Amino acid sequence: MRVTLFGASGLLGHDLVHELRIRPDIVGDYLAALSSKDADVRDRDRVRKVIRNSRPDWTILSAAYTDVDGCETNPDLAFAVNCDGAVHVAEAAREAGSRLLFISTDYVFDGTKQSPYEVSDARNPISVYGQSKARAEERLLEILPEVCIARTSWLFGHGGKCFPATILKLASARPEISVVNDQRGSPTFTRDLASALLQLCRASARGIVHVTNSGTCTWYEFASEIVRLSRLPSLVKPVTTAEFPRPARRPAYSVLSPASLHAYNIQMPAWQHALQRYLGPTVS
Ligand SMILES: NC(=O)c1ccc[n+]([C@@H]2O[C@H](COP(=O)([O-])OP(=O)(O)OC[C@H]3O[C@@H](n4cnc5c(N)ncnc54)[C@H](OP(=O)(O)O)[C@@H]3O)[C@@H](O)[C@H]2O)c1
Repeated sequence: MRVTLFGASGLLGHDLVHELRIRPDIVGDYLAALSSKDADVRDRDRVRKVIRNSRPDWTILSAAYTDVDGCETNPDLAFAVNCDGAVHVAEAAREAGSRLLFISTDYVFDGTKQSPYEVSDARNPISVYGQSKARAEERLLEILPEVCIARTSWLFGHGGKCFPATILKLASARPEISVVNDQRGSPTFTRDLASALLQLCRASARGIVHVTNSGTCTWYEFASEIVRLSRLPSLVKPVTTAEFPRPARRPAYSVLSPASLHAYNIQMPAWQHALQRYLGPTVS
């Protein structure tokens, strides 16, 4: 199978590249791994050329402008990259006869539900970032009806900045850290996500699929587990979102139901187990 990956230099892209290289039994003949320097998704002609020349069976679009607060102050850039860029990739994939896997987000929801979001639930984003990704989903479904849209949440991994890395740094330097306790979601290890995404490609998946590690927590509970497993002496203090105002609103509840993933017979490990593997063998 031939794969062209946009966003290869990102947090998730790092593990997708790793998975694609170590699992030649799944996908392996050919991988074109692209950063924004290789192909800016805002450049329609460049995107077309890259996809046409690489002749992928699957195009994976992990590239995005992911600075959620930055999107609030720069909505034009958010829509140019996350929506128009996605449209360029979808049009080029259609032209080249390639399947498309688009990585999307729990932030397409408003977070007012009190049970896990199903793929059939209506989008109602409350941030510019969420709006740009939600609009991209709608456009891609029009352009390429067989697109696979994998929504995920709260990513952590070794390929870049992430929440556990920040907590480890803060908790090593401070006796006490404050973390919000009124936003609930599912932390997701990019290594587990990358593996599940490639299984979806292999299964020729289409439509919207929710892919997160199993189980839920608040950011405070997530931080507490990071500090506990790492045996750091820092005290983790629960606070409210209102005490920590940020430019972008976040959904208070963004747990994604795994039913759509289970339909492909794919199970995800618990986030606590994923966190232990992220932290490495010295913690328990
Ligand atoms: N992080 C999360 O918690 C989270 C949660 C839910 C969903 N997601 C989604 O998951 C996907 C992967 O996220 P991530 O955390 O791995 O992102 P990331 O670490 O911020 O990486 C973003 C990637 O996109 C590329 N990129 C940015 N602007 C581009 C442009 N104009 N043209 C081409 N490439 C561009 C970057 O390339 P350069 O390195 O060259 O800049 C980089 O490879 C995204 O679609 C995101 O919306 C993320």
